[in-house]
Amino acid sequence: MNVFRHDIVIVGGGGAGLRAAIEAAENHPNASIALVSKVYPMRSHTVSAEGGAAAVAREDDNLELHGFDTVKGSDFLGDQDCIVYFVEQAPKELALLENWGCPFSRNEDGSVATRAFGGMTTKRTWYAADKIGFHMLHALFQHSMRFPNIVRYDEYFVSKLLVDGGRCNGVAALDIRTGEYCTILGRAVILTTGGGGKIFPFTTNGTIKTADGMALAYRAGVPLKDMEFVQYHPTGLPGTGILITEATRGEGGYLKNNKGERFLVDYDYGVGKKAELGPRDMISRAIVQEIEAGRGFEGAYGAYVHLDLTHLGAEVINTKLPFVRELAKTYVGVDPITTPIPIRPVVHYMMGGVDTNIHGATTLPGLYAAGETACVSINGANRLGSNSLTECLVFGAAAARHAMSFSKDSAAPNEKALVAQCEEEAGRVANLRGRKKGGEKISAIRRELNNVMEACCGVYREQTSMQTGVIATAQLRGRVADLRLEDSSKVFNTELITAMELQNMVEVAETIAVSAAHRKESRGAHTCKDYKGRDDSNYLYHTMTHHDPAGPRLGKKDVVLGKWIPEERKY
Ligand code: FUM
Repeated sequence: MNVFRHDIVIVGGGGAGLRAAIEAAENHPNASIALVSKVYPMRSHTVSAEGGAAAVAREDDNLELHGFDTVKGSDFLGDQDCIVYFVEQAPKELALLENWGCPFSRNEDGSVATRAFGGMTTKRTWYAADKIGFHMLHALFQHSMRFPNIVRYDEYFVSKLLVDGGRCNGVAALDIRTGEYCTILGRAVILTTGGGGKIFPFTTNGTIKTADGMALAYRAGVPLKDMEFVQYHPTGLPGTGILITEATRGEGGYLKNNKGERFLVDYDYGVGKKAELGPRDMISRAIVQEIEAGRGFEGAYGAYVHLDLTHLGAEVINTKLPFVRELAKTYVGVDPITTPIPIRPVVHYMMGGVDTNIHGATTLPGLYAAGETACVSINGANRLGSNSLTECLVFGAAAARHAMSFSKDSAAPNEKALVAQCEEEAGRVANLRGRKKGGEKISAIRRELNNVMEACCGVYREQTSMQTGVIATAQLRGRVADLRLEDSSKVFNTELITAMELQNMVEVAETIAVSAAHRKESRGAHTCKDYKGRDDSNYLYHTMTHHDPAGPRLGKKDVVLGKWIPEERKY
């Protein structure tokens, strides 16, 4: 078996992973940084981000406002020390990104243009038309190539963290091209693999978003935090779930019901005067209410409402929202210059993730996490749109700094023990490959998982369906261990990868169901019909789920409060 040795190992090649790699490589030119990704980095899901990245840039804005918007958006569950650090670092990070070549859209005077986004007091979202993810990832990827000390492992699937003597010292990785396992050692490991939207049937997330990093950390004994908070983005295309960016509303688009009414302004949905620029949790609930009241449209993929951009005119749409136009024309046959776009709420983001502190450190020495994989937590119960790309940069860099300093101070890994673990893992996966004696097909379990999770943890939740979800995901955990696979070849065995991804998703889904059933209140994206409103006296804490062979074990962690005292969340 090949054994590769580095100072740190980063798992995930998207925004957070590349930013972490650059930070480590630039400040430690003699260090060796491994960047391991199951896809070529430019195919990471960051590429699909559309609307922009938030940071204070304008005269009428300040860090206090960005901080408070984020705390309020989180329904007071975000940790205020992390949020203060985040908003302080955000402008520097976006300026760096610009220096590295990200072509942000400009104002007439040449300054960086910013647009409105939901739940933000002012225009604070830096954008590149409606393709920020593509440009951001390109800038990061190209910049990363300047550093010969970043060693890439493209198309390697990490299936296990290697832990010895209470420290995380590397990963067991399958080279997808050859089917061979290798041991990639480092004195610290950073997980940056993104979220797990594919746990749900209708999502903006690409096929690769299967909660891998969360499952790796969880199995290694690191708790997952706030898993019940799953974000529904208000505007997904029916059928595919493709994202239609919030920038459409930032640029002045309207949501309309089947009577042609801008329903958000007429009723008290909580969004107040912000209407289409309210936060995502409230707008998603409003759309569901409209549809349930019979004011939606019926379609082949379920009911929907309209996103009307026709009044914006061709010039605005073609210059600021060209990708939206392309997507709408291609996937629903609608030209937004003349016709409203059908949309409905869609799973977009997981506020929860691997529990870390403000430095990205987990409870397992040597293990760090950043980006959507992590829950640091700045997002609490509901993330504000455009905070997440900036979060990848801010906390990717922070995790790299701290992982590097940890790696410098820690003893050399016990190679023999770690390679033995990797060999055992290779044996386990070899038994899974082409496992014809197994009981069930991947597709059947995945479909069932998707259906269970949609029924259990939708925009609106009920105690009974969440309890059903708890039982069903526990059963799926047993069944997914007995998969039947057909393909026993080694080279590019995508069935094998899909099987391991499904096992990751099932494990993480159970933590979502268990956390959701536990939280007997309504806060942010967790809206429970049985419990109206937030209950700060009993539930102002982070939900922790710890791995246990019998199923997730629940715990609690204090929310870090600060100058912003919890109050009723009104817009
Ligand atoms: O709507 C959007 O462009 C999504 C942005 C985000 O999730 O931050």
